[in-house]
Amino acid sequence: MDSTATIIITAALVFYSIGVWSERISGELKKWHLVFFVLGLICDTWGTGMMLEDAGGMTFDVHGISGLLAIILMFIHALWAYIVLRKNDEKAIKSFHKFSVAVWLIWLIPYFSPMFFAMAG
Ligand code: HEM
Repeated sequence: MDSTATIIITAALVFYSIGVWSERISGELKKWHLVFFVLGLICDTWGTGMMLEDAGGMTFDVHGISGLLAIILMFIHALWAYIVLRKNDEKAIKSFHKFSVAVWLIWLIPYFSPMFFAMAG
């Protein structure tokens, strides 16, 4: 793999982080947060797709499994944010950030795992 997938996945990290932490700080989910979740998801799908291609398919190691889980969770997260906004569910709008931060933390596992494994061995 060249550095392209890493750059794209880092763009995903930037988009997700802006969306998730702006939502957390403001204390309620807004439409523009969803825009950042979707931008993150686009880069995430793109970067993960490049890695899958590079690896010649799914790899069942910590990185591959957590990576697959992370992207599925981010997809559900964006979809759920959309539903909450559509329904204008006040209570969910104010508590959604708990789900966002949890998913964001899980997403960091595949992001940092290559670095940890590189340092470990
Ligand atoms: C199905 C899921 C995934 C698979 C099979 C996969 C596979 C791989 C492989 C094989 C590499 C090493 C490429 C090489 O250097 O030869 C890699 C690198 C990397 N992956 Fe993934 N990946 C997946 C998902 C993800 C996700 C979701 C993230 C971010 C959250 C991520 C972040 C990274 C990073 C940052 C590197 C670069 C490490 C470096 O700089 O050497 N991956 N991935």
